[in-house]
Amino acid sequence: MIPMLARTRIGMAAARQTMGGPVVLVPTMGALHDGHRALLRRGRELAGPGGAVVVSIFVNPLQFGAGTDLDRYPRPLDSDLAICGEEGVSAVFAPLTEQMYPSAQTVTVDPGPVGQVLEGAFRPGFFTGVLTVVLKIANLVRPQMAVFGQKDAQQVFLVRRMVAELNLEIDIVTVPTVREPDGLAASSRNSYLSPAERVAARSLSRALFAGAAAAGQGSDALLAAARAELAAAAAADPPLVTDYLELVNPATFLELPACFSGQATLLVAGTIGKTRLIDNVPLTLASLS
Ligand code: PAF
Repeated sequence: MIPMLARTRIGMAAARQTMGGPVVLVPTMGALHDGHRALLRRGRELAGPGGAVVVSIFVNPLQFGAGTDLDRYPRPLDSDLAICGEEGVSAVFAPLTEQMYPSAQTVTVDPGPVGQVLEGAFRPGFFTGVLTVVLKIANLVRPQMAVFGQKDAQQVFLVRRMVAELNLEIDIVTVPTVREPDGLAASSRNSYLSPAERVAARSLSRALFAGAAAAGQGSDALLAAARAELAAAAAADPPLVTDYLELVNPATFLELPACFSGQATLLVAGTIGKTRLIDNVPLTLASLS
């Protein structure tokens, strides 16, 4: 199936009018990989035979800080369209920047306190940019559901919070992280890595898996196991520079109190050369008492 391609807001509105059943939005920045394919397949299931999957492809300048990878971010539209066709996508909304930002964006979505920690602390303004563009795209596509990857755990937490607190009528569905055979989480930014950097990048998921394996011994042991992997990677060539390794409560995205037991998310972010990557795993912390 060849998806409809809309490059303007008017084109998206026209495509939307042809859609009958549930409309499922999969927001992306393109450079689609196996992780995105999992989102598209879930979207296809949710839409059912009578519904439609709309994929947005937009490299959103509002979420890139100065000196980051906005200009070098990959934009392979033809191969993205081919992937969308293979996965049964009904329409691709790939607007030009002037369509999304015809004038300066003076009104934005404030992500609140959780938007200032972890990714928000390392990328000031990032979640304001993400939430603002997700809201703008959702207002143009008017979906009943939207699908996000659990790899961007803080992003999906904040999208859910925006939907709840701004009374948007969209069900947010998440899909587990897709990994390469060596454990590296699928990401469009993996294409930046040289072979040596790619070896170093594996330490991120290794640290998470080592931490998860120690979850039965409590949070201190868990963090120590994960930190040992990161310390080895920091001493390697090329080195991994860790931005943070944090255990949070998935219900609040706040740091866990000592002696916490139950569902937790272990998050990591780090840079190899010029490439910054993030990853996380859900886990259950054992009670030690
Ligand atoms: O996760 C992404 O690809 C982006 O942050 C999103 C949600 C498409 C907003 O630009």
